[in-house]
Amino acid sequence: MTSEPLPADRRLAAEALAADDPTGWFEPLYVEAAAGTSVVPWDRDEPNPLLADWFAERTGPTGGTALVVGCGYGTDAEHVAAQGFRTTAFDVAATAIREARARFPQSPVTYTVADLLNPPAAWRGAFDLVVESITVQSLPPEVHATAIDGIRAALAPGATLLVVADVSTTAPTAGPPWPLTRAEIDSFADGDITPVRVDLLSRPDIPGLRRWRAEFRRAAA
Ligand SMILES: C[S@@+](CC[C@H](N)C(=O)[O-])C[C@H]1O[C@@H](n2cnc3c(N)ncnc32)[C@H](O)[C@@H]1O
Repeated sequence: MTSEPLPADRRLAAEALAADDPTGWFEPLYVEAAAGTSVVPWDRDEPNPLLADWFAERTGPTGGTALVVGCGYGTDAEHVAAQGFRTTAFDVAATAIREARARFPQSPVTYTVADLLNPPAAWRGAFDLVVESITVQSLPPEVHATAIDGIRAALAPGATLLVVADVSTTAPTAGPPWPLTRAEIDSFADGDITPVRVDLLSRPDIPGLRRWRAEFRRAAA
């Protein structure tokens, strides 16, 4: 009996994890995609509908600074910038950042390569809005807490944090992804960062599946 070949993301992730390098599979995946030999499964032409709906319902201020975590090819970052935020978007994969700049040559977004597990010191407390969509879950559970720490650290006083993530079930997961438990979602709140709301929403793109959409606020100074 022959077994099905693993999809590219699982194959490359298995190799990276065997080398104890939790982020080591993203750049090779984007390089394969650039060569046309793999696809990036999370690539979309439209912003994440859970993000777009959140902005459509939102009444808070715009015009501040925003940080988009693990931005990939930049579709969500462009949407955030279009809402009036001075937006920085980063990814650990240099090829993704190059492609984002190529896709949006007139973009006001500052696209940069950075690692959420070791973010630039200058980002501490620097952003009025931080958007995290399915990046933490693309890392193995052992580093989720470090990734969540990095996201929290970027929040300025009074800032908003939006988190979108798949919902962990009790079944063991051979990731990626490694969806987030309710406890992990709750752990974005810490100290002066408190939950505003935590919703479980249907995925418009995949009927039957649900995602967390959670909003947090850091207390004003
Ligand atoms: C599952 S994709 C999600 C992309 C996008 N946020 C979305 O919602 O479609 C995860 C992205 O995060 C990036 N990434 C993973 N770990 C990262 C890290 N430690 N620092 C920065 N980017 C990271 C990957 O290269 C990839 O582009």
